[in-house]
Amino acid sequence: MTKSLKIAPSILSSDFSKLGEVLQSLNTSGADLVHVDVMDGHFVPNITFGPPVIKKIRKYSSIPFDVHLMIAPVHRYIKDFADAGADIITIHPEATNDLEASIQLIKSLGKKAGVSLNPETPIEKVLPVLNSIDLVLIMSVNPGFGGQSFMPEVLSKVVDLRKIIDEKNLTVEIEIDGGIDYITGKQAKEAGVDILVSGTTLFKDEKNLKDNIDQLRNC
Ligand code: DX5
Ligand code: ZN
Repeated sequence: MTKSLKIAPSILSSDFSKLGEVLQSLNTSGADLVHVDVMDGHFVPNITFGPPVIKKIRKYSSIPFDVHLMIAPVHRYIKDFADAGADIITIHPEATNDLEASIQLIKSLGKKAGVSLNPETPIEKVLPVLNSIDLVLIMSVNPGFGGQSFMPEVLSKVVDLRKIIDEKNLTVEIEIDGGIDYITGKQAKEAGVDILVSGTTLFKDEKNLKDNIDQLRNC
């Protein structure tokens, strides 16, 4: 039996003026994770929010928080995001001097650890730490903004990584982020991803959130 795809709506595309309500509607939407994009205006050109906001909104959610840190240097902030209620903490290798140490810090705080690869970053960057992590986040756009076009050239990285993870019998999940809609989601699924992040597509008509999530899961 094939595993069911997990769906991680990115709240970057939701209405920030009512984040509490957005999280409450996600609770009954069938979403598996809430994808939370943290941007610092330095590692990426855009700025979103930090630990105090995450801490406030976390209590509205019964779904795990999948926190994608696009900040540098990331290491010194990991504990703050763990304390704020992150369940998965994903970092970019370029944002830390010591990837293994940052992963171990995340794990020592009782959280799942993810590593994210930008479109131009090869999978070789993550292979040395594959045994220590829970998730690889493949970026299918250059990080920083929602609503960008999917970059199909990253799918070969998904295929290669899927093969390695399966050969090594690891439980590491592959998540993909950026430009995911019902067509690109299907391509990503066929390449071997476990989790689809999607913002614009799911939140475009927010009152149909549940139907949109169902449609994406069954793409
Ligand atoms: C981009 C973020 C994504 C973004 C995805 O830097 O990491 O999570 O919200 O949004 P869409 O689905 O609109 O590409
Ligand atoms: Zn993201």
